[in-house]
Amino acid sequence: MRDTFYLNLSTAENLGIGLFKYALYPAQRFIITNATLANILEYPSKIALKKERLEDFFVNEDERGTFFAILRREGRVRFFEARFRTKKGNKRWVAITASALMDKRKREYVEGIIEDISTHKATEEALERKSSFLQELLDNIPDAVYFKDKENKIIKVNHFYAKGVGLEPEEIIGKTDFDFYPKDLAQKMHDDDKYVLNTGNPIVGKIEKNLLPDGSWSQVITTKIPMHNGGGEVIGTMGITRDMTEYANFEQSQLSMLVNAVSALAKALEMHDPYTFSHTHRVARVAQRIGKALGWKEDKLLAMKLAGELHDVGKIGIPLDILNKPGSLTDVEYRLVQEHVLKCYELLKDFRFPFPLAEIIYQHHERLDGNGYPQHLKGDQILFEARVLAVSDVLEAMTHYRPYRQALGLEVALDEIRAGRGTKYDPQVVDTVFDLVNNNGSDFLDT
Ligand SMILES: [Fe+2]
Ligand SMILES: [Fe+2]
Repeated sequence: MRDTFYLNLSTAENLGIGLFKYALYPAQRFIITNATLANILEYPSKIALKKERLEDFFVNEDERGTFFAILRREGRVRFFEARFRTKKGNKRWVAITASALMDKRKREYVEGIIEDISTHKATEEALERKSSFLQELLDNIPDAVYFKDKENKIIKVNHFYAKGVGLEPEEIIGKTDFDFYPKDLAQKMHDDDKYVLNTGNPIVGKIEKNLLPDGSWSQVITTKIPMHNGGGEVIGTMGITRDMTEYANFEQSQLSMLVNAVSALAKALEMHDPYTFSHTHRVARVAQRIGKALGWKEDKLLAMKLAGELHDVGKIGIPLDILNKPGSLTDVEYRLVQEHVLKCYELLKDFRFPFPLAEIIYQHHERLDGNGYPQHLKGDQILFEARVLAVSDVLEAMTHYRPYRQALGLEVALDEIRAGRGTKYDPQVVDTVFDLVNNNGSDFLDT
């Protein structure tokens, strides 16, 4: 048996802690209690409490058994958590710290303190519920979710992530991306994490295409955000990654279906008017070359290819003898030819491309100063792609033969766009054309 707690009852009476000395053998009864203990156990007074047995307060038999077993074995129990039933029948979480004593006559006692930890326990249980709710929520997300510390070591992942790397979530803790992914890919992920950690800025919706070992491509979209401690310091990152491969493939196949459908329109134009057809193909090449020189990406270059090929497809509806009439057109004929932009728009407006193809084409005869047609748009009202298409159209038309006139030549065409720079034609597009001519000569117009 160990040393005793020396209870100074006069000062301990009103502490927020219950104090007791309890006779364990041969009798079972409280010898000393304080008002706080009576209060915790919902007894009207400490005297009323003295009649009770300590053993009877335990709600759970296992908890009672464990408490007395530890006490007998070790002589003391520290902060033992148990549920006690109060006088009013309520259940209350308490923590008992006690020592076993024996006097000269071999009588056994327990003395110690009992604290009410119900509030603490309720908070703990709420936190536990919250944490398992969070885990359940994370596990139901069909995206990879991961939390990493400052060293980019994984501290938590959801089931989807674990499935992706073929391990149990517990097996992943403490590892890094380099344990699961090819070095290049892991390095990219590492750099992104470092960026978030160092700047405190998130990375939102980053789309990445990755080459897989089997030669196929995967496409993912990732968001990474910093995690802060109470003091606002960045202590790690949280990321969520969605596999978009199937969706991207679906988009791709939808797009190629659309491209096939509009190619049929171009074919119809070829059958109607081979001159216009070869013009549109060359315009498409020129527009793509300008786009490339402007640093445009694949989707925009595809837009320029289709816009070039289809910009005059509305001419299908115009009689050939007007389209290719030598000499000048009457006002009525000219208005009829101008209608090709509206006819193009009508033909293409219902095809749902990921870029405004019908609008780009509808605006290819607009000019910066508002003197174009059909809407007399000005400056920024005209889509930039339409401004590229306009310049490409003029360059091609002037440098090639038409049934109604000879080719005018590159110099004349360049004079036209130089003279119209900033009034008819976009200055940046004109400058890009001159850069291309300076670097490639007239080759830039050849197809
Ligand atoms: Fe046109
Ligand atoms: Fe044209």
